Amino acid sequence: MSAVKSGVRRLLGRAGFDIVRSTDSRGGVDDFIPFEATIRAAQAAGLSVGDYIDEIMNGTPGTTQSTIEELRALDVFTADPKTVLEVGPGSGRYLEKTLKECSPGRYEIYETAQPWANYLVDTFGVVSQPTAGSSLAPTPDGSVDLVQAHKVFNTVTFLCASRYFFEMARVTRPGGRIVFDVMTETCLGPATVRTWATQGGTGHDSYPAAMPRRTCVDLFETLDCSLEASFLAQMGVASTEVLVFRKKP
Ligand SMILES: C[S@@+](CC[C@H](N)C(=O)[O-])C[C@H]1O[C@@H](n2cnc3c(N)ncnc32)[C@H](O)[C@@H]1O
Repeated sequence: MSAVKSGVRRLLGRAGFDIVRSTDSRGGVDDFIPFEATIRAAQAAGLSVGDYIDEIMNGTPGTTQSTIEELRALDVFTADPKTVLEVGPGSGRYLEKTLKECSPGRYEIYETAQPWANYLVDTFGVVSQPTAGSSLAPTPDGSVDLVQAHKVFNTVTFLCASRYFFEMARVTRPGGRIVFDVMTETCLGPATVRTWATQGGTGHDSYPAAMPRRTCVDLFETLDCSLEASFLAQMGVASTEVLVFRKKP
């Protein structure tokens, strides 16, 4: 790693981007990776912001792309989503790669970190919706083909995540997909809990947050959404589990 890269990493402090701090304790990424400094540092490193976060801040090159490739193999993008909605896109590292896989006419984001939301609107032409709590109220029922959230529900409280789940199911059209990752029991064997406890850093209020897999599967089933697939994705010192649901046609 170059001196610039290691210096930036030292400056940024903690072990991973997934450890975030927010003035409202909801995981606002803007406090942890200030907008302008991050953009400048990515440019100085000659990387896109997303790749910069993977490689320099998290020290895990390719993690975002590997989730995208898993989703591609599951035909999430070849289903040709016309409308995509993403909760908590942050710097847009998944958004950018999603837009390389498909060409939705409309891409809505719900993001509490305003500087990053503005940047995503300017850079990718997405629609930033008013974001408050866990509401997707501006988005009509059954209007979205692909609803996604990455590395969000392991940084917010149980109530915030659960309330978003109901909303995500509501806005998804019949036949549409819902994709998000959570730190389930699959990711929390005894050895991994030990790793988190000893090497997981200081965390913050709600990070890292666990969410039972069964809770998600059973809840979404009551909302007419069936689990299609799941896989692990690297997160912090261990992993989250990405769940892929399909709303019944
Ligand atoms: C750990 S970051 C992940 C960002 C991005 N998805 C990624 O993987 O790089 C969590 C993101 O969720 C956003 N966030 C936190 N609370 C939120 C809420 N209630 N609604 C929408 N976004 C929220 C934060 O501002 C931040 O951008």
